[in-house]
Amino acid sequence: MEKFPKHVLSSDQFSPEMIEYLCGQAEDIRAIMETGKKRQLLGKLHGMSMFTVFYEPSTRTRFSFEQAGNVCGMHKCSTENAEITSSVSKGENLEDTVKTLSGYYPDVFVLRHKVKGAAKRAAEVIDEKKKNVHIINAGDGKGEHPSQALLDFYTIWQAKGRKLDNIRIMFGGDLKYGRTVRSLARVLAKYPGITMTFVAPEALQVAEDIRADLDTHQIPYTLESDPMKAFPEADVIYWTRLQKERIEDERTRIELEEIERKGTYNIGSPQLSVMKPTANILHPLPRVGEILHEVDQDPRSWYFTQAENGLYIRIALLLELLRESE
Ligand code: CP
Repeated sequence: MEKFPKHVLSSDQFSPEMIEYLCGQAEDIRAIMETGKKRQLLGKLHGMSMFTVFYEPSTRTRFSFEQAGNVCGMHKCSTENAEITSSVSKGENLEDTVKTLSGYYPDVFVLRHKVKGAAKRAAEVIDEKKKNVHIINAGDGKGEHPSQALLDFYTIWQAKGRKLDNIRIMFGGDLKYGRTVRSLARVLAKYPGITMTFVAPEALQVAEDIRADLDTHQIPYTLESDPMKAFPEADVIYWTRLQKERIEDERTRIELEEIERKGTYNIGSPQLSVMKPTANILHPLPRVGEILHEVDQDPRSWYFTQAENGLYIRIALLLELLRESE
């Protein structure tokens, strides 16, 4: 297997071999955690440190990274809402913040930022200073969320008994601003035999760069605006919320509010009734009404398992990134 990247910036950096290796490690970690033996992991990264610097809100990514660090014995410093609680509020730019914090010898720097490309900029600062610090992109605006793609892939791999041949993945909701869809589509594009359907209002369809990626890998895909037409064929349904906070255009915002009011992109009992009995419903969460609570009782709902898988895969990722630093 090739060497893991120093920084985790895009899901495209991971080969299928690397991803499946991490999934295998995550399975072992899950077994350790579920049997109450988590102390076995405590010494793995003892004495190492993680900085989590979040410029945007987060529940799952921040807590699962921090808990992954705790479980492995790391020390951590964190700032949530960095724009208010760090010197960014005084006007400091990202480069100066990263340059300063990298001088405090973290081993890992987990960064969530509202601007696409921010993690790459942070990695450039680290590399220019020749610091042995790993940047993990925990979401950069409408760019990418690579560790989410790893946990999403892990969940699909688990749900489908490790076989991804000939499955149809349906992505739905906000595919333009949703970085998790972008990152997962890039990973799945490396699996021949997968077919994708992107279901979204026209203003929120998946971006050209992802379509180009799929064309390069000869992955067949279709674009659709009516979810009810696509549900019956889907083996995996990856749903997302409408990211109103990222929409600047007033007309699109009004259009989306109308869609929300009508519930066209909601999943409830009528939608469940047309899905395959073997389908799996995923969502990166948070949901804000687009998956109704009645769906939680259905065995096809996998989104909370998916959120939990974030801990296992992030432990696996940290162990792999820091293996040579031990
Ligand atoms: N899926 C995800 O990134 O969730 P958070 O925003 O809560 O971290």
